[in-house]
Amino acid sequence: MAKTIIISNRLPVQLQIENGHITATPSVGGLATGMKSVHSGSDSLWIGWSGLTKENIPKELEPKIDKALREHGCSKVSLTEEEIEGFYFGFSNRTIWPLFHYFLEYSEFESASWETFKAVNQKFADAILKNSKDDDVIWVHDYQLMLVPEMVKAKRPNAAIGFFLHVPFPSYEIFRTLPWRKEILRGLLGADLIGFHTYDYERHFLSSVRRLLGLEVSFNEINVDDRVIKVDSFPMGIDYKKFSNAAKVHQKNTTENQSELQRRLNVHKESTPDAKLILSIDRLDYSKGIAKRLKAFEYFLNKFPEYKEKVRLIILAVPSRSNVPQYQLLKKEIDELVGRINGEFSTVSWTPIWYFYRSMPFENLIDLYTSSDIALLTPIRDGMNLVAKEYIATRTDKTGVLILSEMAGSANEMNESLLINPNNFDQIADALIQAINMPKEEQMARNTILQKRLERYNVEKWANDFMKSLLEQRETTHQYISK
Ligand code: ADP
Ligand code: G6P
Repeated sequence: MAKTIIISNRLPVQLQIENGHITATPSVGGLATGMKSVHSGSDSLWIGWSGLTKENIPKELEPKIDKALREHGCSKVSLTEEEIEGFYFGFSNRTIWPLFHYFLEYSEFESASWETFKAVNQKFADAILKNSKDDDVIWVHDYQLMLVPEMVKAKRPNAAIGFFLHVPFPSYEIFRTLPWRKEILRGLLGADLIGFHTYDYERHFLSSVRRLLGLEVSFNEINVDDRVIKVDSFPMGIDYKKFSNAAKVHQKNTTENQSELQRRLNVHKESTPDAKLILSIDRLDYSKGIAKRLKAFEYFLNKFPEYKEKVRLIILAVPSRSNVPQYQLLKKEIDELVGRINGEFSTVSWTPIWYFYRSMPFENLIDLYTSSDIALLTPIRDGMNLVAKEYIATRTDKTGVLILSEMAGSANEMNESLLINPNNFDQIADALIQAINMPKEEQMARNTILQKRLERYNVEKWANDFMKSLLEQRETTHQYISK
């Protein structure tokens, strides 16, 4: 029977070896959390990097590693430290990531890392060819693997290949600065269907294809030789039930089975019933606007001093790509900002910011979502931002206010939240005032609409829509060839 082959750099689990024992932890990031739900409900094989380098895996543990991955429906692509350096920390996260998020000044253009990127993409393509049959459907994910579709198509012209980009596709003016822009576009065009989170990213991509490759684009279809490639937007949803059910269970927890975090948050609520908890959760990434958010919060405290001791900002930042210098600098900047703001405003009974720099288990994420009165998510640029959707899904009593950056892909579907420009501190401060004072009825009215939409356009629907479109596209292409 035909199956789906999912392929991404990051697998849904990350393996570690401690004292000869293999442990698996869930991966953080929208791609992994979203696709995990799709993968667990289907007969698919997920190919990717295990998080361990070749040098880290003793020969005798290799079979155990493969077995551990098989239990999660996964298969690994082995990468050396040098490959991870050039492909992952290098071209993927020092060239493409900053460029696609409009941080042009952070982008490094090095031919050595481009060469490694190509070689590693070929490794992923080979892994697909080795692990799949002719009629399997191949679904390639994200900016780390943009050359894979062309590499697979070259060997398997009849395969149905889908590609989904989880980050923004930048405007032509930004994309054209990349020395290897044409190679990247040709790589993507090996797919039969190319999906983006929003219509804007789709439009930017089509414009680059037209202007850089001079190809004929009619509406959202591209003609290349004897093939028709479809380009479309599919805004990714969340596993709505997983989050809303977890929140319901969370509320029923008795003191005995509450987590330490839930207990502490409850104590905080009881001792300061009028104080508002403001939450932000992101990977520690410059695209998320964490430093600006802290400055905006400081601005708010200065502009509206009457709210001192009445609000608390919880920042949960997950360590991410810490070998890349920009991430190390950002970590330092955030540490200093938190220290400065807490030093300036704290009183004996109040610390304005609680800052956690770590990954947390799912239960604790739910503790934070359900205990917070306001979510403040201010990315400077974000492909989607699933955290915004997860926050709303956990609000079982429909209270809570979401303040969300217009620069997040999810803002397109979340008009009922308070949308802000992350560079406009006055607007953020005013939105905080509006959120703090918003009547419960208004919160509930806004969240009722948001929840209905998120429940309907959940991650399952997203994956089904993409798959349906991919299979239709394969049919169209076959008919086109046989004409
Ligand atoms: P990105 O993909 O850029 O990291 P998203 O907001 O789309 O941003 O996705 C982040 C995902 O990672 C969410 O599904 C969220 O639940 C998960 N996540 C974020 N922070 C943590 C954390 N501290 N611990 C565990 N999971 C987290
Ligand atoms: C974003 C990217 C994903 C990536 C995730 C976490 O969501 O779109 O491809 O997996 O961030 O980043 P990491 O570098 O840890 O895989």
